[in-house]
Amino acid sequence: MAIKKISDTIYNIGVIDWSRRLFDELIPLPDGTSYNAYLVVGSEKTALIDTSDPSKPEEFRRGLEGLPVKKVDYVIANHAEQDHSGLIPLVLKKYPGAKVVTNEKCKEILLEHLPLKTEDFIVVSDGQTLSLGNKTLRFFFAPWVHWPETMLTFLVEDRILFPCDFLGSHYATSEVYSDDSQRIYRAAKRYYAEIMMPFRSFVQKHLATVRGLDPVLICPSHGPVYKNPNFILSAYESWVSDDVEPRVLIPYISMHGSTEAIVDHLVNAFVQKKMEVIPLNMSVSDLGELAIDIVDASTLLFATPTMLLGPHPQMLYTMVLTNALKPKTKYLSLVTSYGWGTKVVEAAKGALGNLKAEWVDPITIKGFPKAKDYEAMDRLVDLIVKKHHT
Ligand code: FEO
Repeated sequence: MAIKKISDTIYNIGVIDWSRRLFDELIPLPDGTSYNAYLVVGSEKTALIDTSDPSKPEEFRRGLEGLPVKKVDYVIANHAEQDHSGLIPLVLKKYPGAKVVTNEKCKEILLEHLPLKTEDFIVVSDGQTLSLGNKTLRFFFAPWVHWPETMLTFLVEDRILFPCDFLGSHYATSEVYSDDSQRIYRAAKRYYAEIMMPFRSFVQKHLATVRGLDPVLICPSHGPVYKNPNFILSAYESWVSDDVEPRVLIPYISMHGSTEAIVDHLVNAFVQKKMEVIPLNMSVSDLGELAIDIVDASTLLFATPTMLLGPHPQMLYTMVLTNALKPKTKYLSLVTSYGWGTKVVEAAKGALGNLKAEWVDPITIKGFPKAKDYEAMDRLVDLIVKKHHT
């Protein structure tokens, strides 16, 4: 792993994980990821901001050994999750006397997860500073982006923000800086959707804090550095706002073709009405694609066969995850096909209970859709379109 120099006094020695394809054994990583750790060199002290994933100790050690300084005085732990904290013990072993600087909550969590001792820590309060000589670090508590202990570190003299997970992206790249391309925008949106969206109100609050700091550089612990902070801050401001895009997302599963015929009809009907529509076949789509699209879609319309009276299990899984991600969707609906009986509507309403959206006339269809079913779907489409114009 090559060290990425950001300035004469700031280095990124994190590890790029090009081939990782799953996070938390759940989240697909089509672009890999990185675990960035930043060294800040002051005239008197040096501080390492976050570490790296415990699966990469040798790569991280090589990064430390390539640094132009031979001593680390402080390890700033912005977040206790292992992909950033897991190699703190390695750093303390390599640099005896180094202290872990973090808040009380993070210290408590780190002590539970890592072989650390209470005397290894310096506990800071919200807004407190730490002097490195000619450089000052200021800590801002930012709970729930995305754990209760998360905090942001701000290098005051250079106006550089180190927000750890917040504003990051799972995106492996050899480049130091974001090129602000659609690829990075989409990776950051995927990251927001999967990690931050359930905490939207907290994100709004901490985003305002970051705007107020007016950073010139944002150095997240996943993905490239933003030298145009407005790129990511304005994207977040739109994602966390209450505004939605007039768009119908149709996650669906079809076993024998009935639901496929239903979805085809719905898609065509929305197209006729000039309403943007995205069908997503959940038997082949990754959940991240769904997560990206539900960030700002106004409407979610599930289409599923009935299986053992409930939704197809893959669709139930999709609903449960959607419920956990808590998108700002305004309208929900559902169409199900069934053979002899169905309780899909009740099951879906239960599975999506976190969402504050309005349910719009779910439809149940026996067998393959017939003329009266197509008419019912047309009425549903009309109703959904009308709701976007009132
Ligand atoms: Fe990248 Fe919450 O850890």
